[in-house]
Amino acid sequence: MKTNIEIIQSNQIKPEQLNKAATILQSGGLVAFPTETVYGLGGNALDDLAAKKIYKAKGRPSDNPLIIHIADGAALDELAREVPKKAKKLTEAFWPGPLTIILKKDKRVPDGTTGGLDTVAIRMPNHRVALALIEQSGIYIAAPSANTSGRPSPTRAEHVIEDLDGKIEMIIDGGPVGIGLESTIVDLTEEVPIILRPGSITKTMLEEVIGKVEMDPAILQKNIEEDIAPKAPGMKYKHYAPKGELIIVEGAIEKVISFINERIAVLSNNGIKVGVITTDETRDKYKADIIKSLGKRTDEQAIAKILYNILREFDKLQVEVIYSECFYSNELGYAIMNRLLKAAGYQVIQV
Ligand code: TXA
Ligand code: MG
Repeated sequence: MKTNIEIIQSNQIKPEQLNKAATILQSGGLVAFPTETVYGLGGNALDDLAAKKIYKAKGRPSDNPLIIHIADGAALDELAREVPKKAKKLTEAFWPGPLTIILKKDKRVPDGTTGGLDTVAIRMPNHRVALALIEQSGIYIAAPSANTSGRPSPTRAEHVIEDLDGKIEMIIDGGPVGIGLESTIVDLTEEVPIILRPGSITKTMLEEVIGKVEMDPAILQKNIEEDIAPKAPGMKYKHYAPKGELIIVEGAIEKVISFINERIAVLSNNGIKVGVITTDETRDKYKADIIKSLGKRTDEQAIAKILYNILREFDKLQVEVIYSECFYSNELGYAIMNRLLKAAGYQVIQV
């Protein structure tokens, strides 16, 4: 299949281009498009066949449900059989924006879209191209991140092209995304809402609007299938991973630096290409082949925005082993560490 690549910027959406994309979606095809979090791979959410195509293009297991993207809050009543008060409050506070809510699904949502679950994930993206595409096509758009399953999520159209060129009808290039990590997912089907995936809408922000919210314990721990299986099926897979082996080193920063430098010396002697993920404050202290800084340690938003791009750059440079510093904090740092831990397959060395 030839993939048509269209550049559509938020500040100059041309109706003919948008029409082409909308027509593809209406006829059951797939279009990758920018959102404020990461690029999504869109198909008609109420078409079982389109969902199947999405799984195939991504190489994704079909028990991993898709998020439905909407442009109008009224859609909630059509997609969910119950819309609790807390859902109304959250959507008023954070939509359009990087928050996905899980509700009990209406029967019109096909099993293909929800991976057979009785619940449905819904979000209204805060991106003019995404919203215009949903409106123009007149459908609800199911969209997982537009990467090959297991790879880092795409934050630029080039990443989507790397993974999906030739496999889908169209890629809309809207430039680099604003946030760089996927939306926060909160399950509202339980008495106390639970965060299933941390994102830039933090626990504190949610609690300000609806009171007590819990965190799925699987978020920062290795999930031992029976013990703490994550409630978002997608969170159980190895994810976001670079091709090289990624190892996180945790401890006092001086110790982290000397440990990593010792490892670099040993591995380089054996002809292994080593990389380091660090920050501006400490980047000059390493002696690796390839050193990538995520920016200032205190600027979590910048770190979130660049993380996936840097993981993909290591792939291009064919780095075989990557050591990373830690980025824990209560808020956005949670989302960053959640992705980094998964990318590392939970390999953490304490020093
Ligand atoms: O920011 C985002 O959310 C991006 C953009 C494109 O909107 N989308 C995204 O989709 O990250 P995806 O498919 O890569 O991740 C969706 C996550 C998966 O972990 C999936 O298991 C979970 O949402 N999920 C979807 N429906 C669910 C449901 N009914 N119950 C629990 N988890 C669900
Ligand atoms: Mg994904």
